[in-house]
Amino acid sequence: MIDILCPGMQPPKGAFLSMEGMDGCGKTTQLNLLTRGLEQCGYEVVHSREPGGCPISEKIRELVLDKNNIEMCMETEALLYAASRAQHVRQVIRPTMAAGKLLLCDRFVDSSVAYQGAGRELGTALISAINAPAVDGTMPDATVFLSIDRKEALRRRCAATDPDRIELAGDDFHSRVEAGYHQLIDSDPRRWIVVDASRTPEEIADEVLTRVLDRLEEVEA
Ligand code: TYD
Repeated sequence: MIDILCPGMQPPKGAFLSMEGMDGCGKTTQLNLLTRGLEQCGYEVVHSREPGGCPISEKIRELVLDKNNIEMCMETEALLYAASRAQHVRQVIRPTMAAGKLLLCDRFVDSSVAYQGAGRELGTALISAINAPAVDGTMPDATVFLSIDRKEALRRRCAATDPDRIELAGDDFHSRVEAGYHQLIDSDPRRWIVVDASRTPEEIADEVLTRVLDRLEEVEA
């Protein structure tokens, strides 16, 4: 199967990919399509998410996204995302990579820098410091950013049936998040695969798969 779909490709080894974007960018659809594409190329894909990904981190997810927790302060929010990540890195991400599989994660530490650092205005320095022991050097080999117009993201968020605590934050917040992502991309352009996500799901998925496979080849070389 690998030879037919991806001629000349070597047997896969462990890797870590993440996908990021504003709420409403179509991440769930693209994660599913990318998983399918990578599996067809012979990768054993483990799909995970942040916050969450393992039982303890899923409990933290419930806490941090619960819209009844209106009194949660920004520092608590930032520390909870980092705590969830510390567990997820050790219990899921590292063991999956060590087993030679490909870990595909719906959000990672970049979300904390964009949402808590820029969106909540806690600053990149504080968020990096909080997350250093959580991540402990484990970073994605590549990160896909689904880029959509902020107005379109807002329209989709408004249409969401049951928005969580973060999605309910105002447009100023989301505009700072967007700026935060662009700063991250500018500071490390090699890791980021920025894709125009305003097209059809199939067009987006084709570009994402091609560019991710290119990057994986580089990682495995
Ligand atoms: P996500 O799972 O993408 O939401 P959904 O499944 O509802 O589409 O992410 C949950 C929310 O958490 C999202 O608004 C982004 C936010 N978030 C942060 O603010 N900081 C973080 O570190 C992470 C991982 C997510």
